[in-house]
Amino acid sequence: MQKAIEVTNLCKRYSQEVLKNFSLSVNEGEMVVLLGESGCGKSTFIRILAGLENADSGSVCLNGISMDERIPPNKRNIALVYQEPVLWNHMPVWKNIAYGMAKKDKKVIYELMDALEIGGLEKRFPEEISGGQAKRVALARALAADKGILLLDEPLSNIDEKTKLKNLEYLVQNYKDRKTILYVTHSKMEADFLGCRQIRMDVRE
Ligand SMILES: Nc1ncnc2c1ncn2[C@@H]1O[C@H](COP(=O)(O)OP(=O)(O)O)[C@@H](O)[C@H]1O
Ligand SMILES: [Mg+2]
Repeated sequence: MQKAIEVTNLCKRYSQEVLKNFSLSVNEGEMVVLLGESGCGKSTFIRILAGLENADSGSVCLNGISMDERIPPNKRNIALVYQEPVLWNHMPVWKNIAYGMAKKDKKVIYELMDALEIGGLEKRFPEEISGGQAKRVALARALAADKGILLLDEPLSNIDEKTKLKNLEYLVQNYKDRKTILYVTHSKMEADFLGCRQIRMDVRE
């Protein structure tokens, strides 16, 4: 079976070594958790997959296609939730969510907003919502874009526990083993809750 994500021997160094021969493979439709302490290189890894950063060596294949550095992020069939949510400040929440949708279906947008506990915020602007709400708007935008691969970098950090559990439950019920998802977190609780394969990443000394 063709892998949705196939990463081999990725290396990346800044002033210090961050990734050394890191390999990972994810089946199509599989949800996988990448778990590791803060500073171990998770976000760096996600940025390399997304084409926002270059590796020093190693290879990345998405859906069987080799991603060399000339393939830009928007040509990779991925939706990415950044660790720090990035929203369009000049657009209300609903437009932010609709941004990547091929067909701007309001019903889908409102259902997603309700499911992620951000219903009622559609007309607000990003500066009028909290950081935790902004994260869920970013998550809704990624889910709505309906790309082949979802890369979620700490999508539910800094969200209160009760809401976080509801959001995790929603992801499990609606996306687990239906959609290719790489869920990045430092939280063992989140990883265990999702109940899927866990890949550990360790801090390099
Ligand atoms: N653009 C950068 N320039 C220099 N160092 C960086 C850069 N991005 C990340 N780092 C360093 O690389 C290491 C891994 O960071 P990061 O990928 O953000 O880890 P994580 O997401 O697991 O917390 C950290 O030591 C961080 O300081
Ligand atoms: Mg990070």
